[in-house]
Amino acid sequence: MCGIVGYIGNKSATDVLISGLKRLEYRGYDSAGIVVVSGGKLHTVKQSGKVRDLEQMVYSRWDEKFQAGATLGISHTRWATHGSPTPENAHPHYDQTGRLAMVHNGIIENYSSLRTQLQAKGHVFKSQTDSEVLIHLIGELYQGNLVEAVCAALKHVEGTYGIAVVSAERPDEFVVARKGSPLVIGLGEGETIVASDVSAIISHTRQVIYLDDDDVAVVRASGVDVRNINNVPVSRAVAKVDWDVGAAEKGGYEHFMLKEIHEQPESLGNTLRGRLDEQMGTALLSGLSLTPRELSAIRRVVIVACGTSYHAGMVGKYYFEELADIPTEVDQAAEYRYRNPIIRPDDMVVAISQSGETADTLAAVREAKQKGALVVGICNVVGSTIAREAGRGVYLHAGPEIGVASTKAFTCQLTVLLMMALKLGRCRRLSRQNGMELCEKIQEIPKLVKAVLARNDEIVKVAEQYHQARDFFFLGRGAMFPVALEGALKLKEISYIHAEGYHAAELKHGPIALLDKQTPVLAMVNDIAGRDKMISNVQECRARHAPVIGIVTEGDADVEANMDHVIHVPKCSHLTAPIPTVVALQLFAYHVARLRQCSIDQPRNLAKSVTVE
Ligand code: F6R
Repeated sequence: MCGIVGYIGNKSATDVLISGLKRLEYRGYDSAGIVVVSGGKLHTVKQSGKVRDLEQMVYSRWDEKFQAGATLGISHTRWATHGSPTPENAHPHYDQTGRLAMVHNGIIENYSSLRTQLQAKGHVFKSQTDSEVLIHLIGELYQGNLVEAVCAALKHVEGTYGIAVVSAERPDEFVVARKGSPLVIGLGEGETIVASDVSAIISHTRQVIYLDDDDVAVVRASGVDVRNINNVPVSRAVAKVDWDVGAAEKGGYEHFMLKEIHEQPESLGNTLRGRLDEQMGTALLSGLSLTPRELSAIRRVVIVACGTSYHAGMVGKYYFEELADIPTEVDQAAEYRYRNPIIRPDDMVVAISQSGETADTLAAVREAKQKGALVVGICNVVGSTIAREAGRGVYLHAGPEIGVASTKAFTCQLTVLLMMALKLGRCRRLSRQNGMELCEKIQEIPKLVKAVLARNDEIVKVAEQYHQARDFFFLGRGAMFPVALEGALKLKEISYIHAEGYHAAELKHGPIALLDKQTPVLAMVNDIAGRDKMISNVQECRARHAPVIGIVTEGDADVEANMDHVIHVPKCSHLTAPIPTVVALQLFAYHVARLRQCSIDQPRNLAKSVTVE
């Protein structure tokens, strides 16, 4: 959610931190701040607004010589939770003496009682944040050894944190720690860079250490010294990041979201690569680490996820039930652990998360593991907390998703779910022949998406006609119902138009009262099961004068005659059809938002990774 970058090395810390913050800006962006250590002092600039506002202030306030001279610093982009986005509430925060400073991601849940205890000892707080309490506590316990004070303070903390702490006395090191909020340490030549996300690190080095929960590390230019919360050294493996910098940049597109929509044939190709065994008509998915015997023993699948990933899970339910004959439930991760979920020994819990850091999904994973379930992760970010805690699963290999609105992760999630259902199905009821046919259909997915991307102009025309609408309905049946939900979510989050996703049959049970000629309806009328019923539902809408935009299969002339406008998708299996269909909806939402001049990659009030409940 918020972003952290820390640096120590042989370059100007200011330059490295500002460029690192820009790469993290998509995570949270209502204010930002930086502190560098130089000449036995801490120098800070904090600002509300975008990183470029901070950058302007930093470079106008600090002279060039000073900037080049400071080689240690920490910085932060904030997405407000406690206290509004003002410069006072922006990070870094100081301890009581003003000699220690800290940036923090996460939430200190017991901050209020800690604050009262510290106030009783004379501490005065300058912000409304929970974070400031933690650095005051570290300062209270500091007796000349920073890592000791950090470990001691963290033992009093309930909640989540990724922190970086500097001391005016120590120009040669700083201390970081994590619990529930990601932190990655990049090991360069004579420099070390710490960030909440590898995208801020990869232009410096690809050698990284992912900290575990309860790790604390002393960071120096020559490397790191990782300890546990009892200040006892622990060893952590060095991993290699295989993304390149270009993948984290816009590559000529106007927005990351558009780039990521267009990248889908390639990212889907990466998701599929080496994972289908066409001869045996099955999927390989070695990361599941489950034998055919273990797979066939599964009696129920429970999918937990949030937002777009939850919609992917809803489509997954159709896949698992149809192909593998396994009863499947889909749970909103935020609800899961609060309702005493029943876990049986033969259940498989599938956690879907692009970032692998979503707090509610992580909590659901922990709940399921604690109750003894077999947990499988479907994540995009390699080494992310959910991927590691699940211990087994399937990576999407979609590449970094920077635009806040999830696009390529969703289509890759559907593809992974389809392959998982195929694999489970082959251990149970699906014949080799059926499996081989399905492999062929799955292999077609990148081509289907390409065909929709080629229809961009058709989609732009419809967007031009309706971008000023105030409300939209998205309707679907079967696996197209979650696709309708996802289309509505995309539109509302980036264009700020009110959009409702509904099962087409539910319309008559209430919401049809809202339809009139000002309320366009996007209807998934693909040439698959349910098409004729969808046509009837469309007629109901048109009878209320609502203009209907049909997502229709190429060549389905009968359907076209029943629509006010059409967006074409290629003919394909009902199992793969959600993927090209949702790509059409992603493009539609994108163009509507562009015509309304919205901030597409950084929509208001949203952050890419939701690491708070
Ligand atoms: C919407 C969107 C969110 C995420 C949700 C879960 O475009 O991106 O709804 O899908 O916050 O995030 P992950 O998949 O990272 O767990």
